Amino acid sequence: MDNTIYKNRRNNLEKSLPENSVLLIPGADMQYRNADSAYAFRQDSSFYYFSGFSEPASLIAIVNNKEGISSIVFVQPKDKLKEIWDGNRAGPIGAVDEFLFDKAYDNTQIDTMMPDILSGSSQVLYAIGKKSGFDQKVIDWSTNASSKDRHSKSINIIDASSLIGNARLIKDEHEINLIRKACNISAEAHIEAMKNVKDVSSEQDIEGLYINEFSKRGGRFQAYTPIVAGGENACTLHYVENNQKLKKSDLLLVDAGCEYEMYASDITRTFPINGKFSKEQLKIYEIVLEAMNAAIDNVKPGNDIMKPQEISEKVITKGLVSLGLLDGDPDELHKKGAFKDFYMHKIGHWLGLDVHDAGDYMEGENYMKFKPGMITTIEPGIYISSSLDVDDKWKGIGIRIEDDILVTKNGNENLTKKVPSDPAEIESLMS
Ligand code: GLY
Ligand code: MN
Ligand code: MN
Repeated sequence: MDNTIYKNRRNNLEKSLPENSVLLIPGADMQYRNADSAYAFRQDSSFYYFSGFSEPASLIAIVNNKEGISSIVFVQPKDKLKEIWDGNRAGPIGAVDEFLFDKAYDNTQIDTMMPDILSGSSQVLYAIGKKSGFDQKVIDWSTNASSKDRHSKSINIIDASSLIGNARLIKDEHEINLIRKACNISAEAHIEAMKNVKDVSSEQDIEGLYINEFSKRGGRFQAYTPIVAGGENACTLHYVENNQKLKKSDLLLVDAGCEYEMYASDITRTFPINGKFSKEQLKIYEIVLEAMNAAIDNVKPGNDIMKPQEISEKVITKGLVSLGLLDGDPDELHKKGAFKDFYMHKIGHWLGLDVHDAGDYMEGENYMKFKPGMITTIEPGIYISSSLDVDDKWKGIGIRIEDDILVTKNGNENLTKKVPSDPAEIESLMS
């Protein structure tokens, strides 16, 4: 395993870290579902981005001083008995030899060594408020470091969330390949669901189908808890119960994506359970698809990230007026936000190691502009819950379409277009 890519990412921080500073990146700890039943370990995404190292209870300290940049890691100590139960540990020697850290120590030494590492630096940076208990530890280490040399300046504690997040915002070739693979697996699973839904009787069985299709292709984990929502359940945006019977005349909304080698994919498709859209379902679907296509066209370098949002709102507002679901001048209705009863979420988010990936959405006072290498989801929807004051024929229709879009030099590439979103193509696939 060549871990040079991770070492290079650490060394690249020399450009963005302040002089005489230390950046701390804590890894994840084991998590338990109940009693002593542990979840499969998932490394913290930022820790992984800068290390490729997948053991719990680790901590990276990246020191930038007049000697240049160097990285120290604290890892679980070697332990014969624990390794019999839980598997191999790299230990400090493995962390240096295989993971290319400059120095590595047992994590049992963190509290004694960290004040010395911080001593003499002007700033300690870390993602404030992200890991439970870590804020207090940094305060304690910094206080101890300052008390070692009362006559030097105190150490400023600075939030590194943006610095770390924005380092992850532009994906390199290695990451794009993994996300592409995750997207392909998820697209194929959606295709299988469309082909098989007619023979499936419950949301839960569809969820099982996705897990199996992901797993067969190498995606053991889901990037997030999927939404498998028959009929009106789709109008509950974060519906994750996934336990109701399917009704043949309903639509099924599935928001599901696998994780592949730590990288997420995120796809939503909405399709008719009996294989044929009803007249009303199709009319709403076509508006969402038009909004989707217009939004994707606007994901390109130079456009700000709110452009696809604004276009999707306008297309949806106009479409709702054309069906009599909103009444008035589309421009006025858009300005007033009248679409929000039907389309109440934002159009997308960054995608990467996390499904809602790290990285800012603003640059100073302005929205971020798209740059090549960014990956965003585009996911407009229309949700007509029964509580809305509309003609009964529209009630219970909830539709979202979601693709994963890579910004390229000249525009974009839709990484999930393999799974159809065109209604005629969906019907043909299902027949
Ligand atoms: N699946 C999570 C999202 O679409 O934001
Ligand atoms: Mn999404
Ligand atoms: Mn999604």
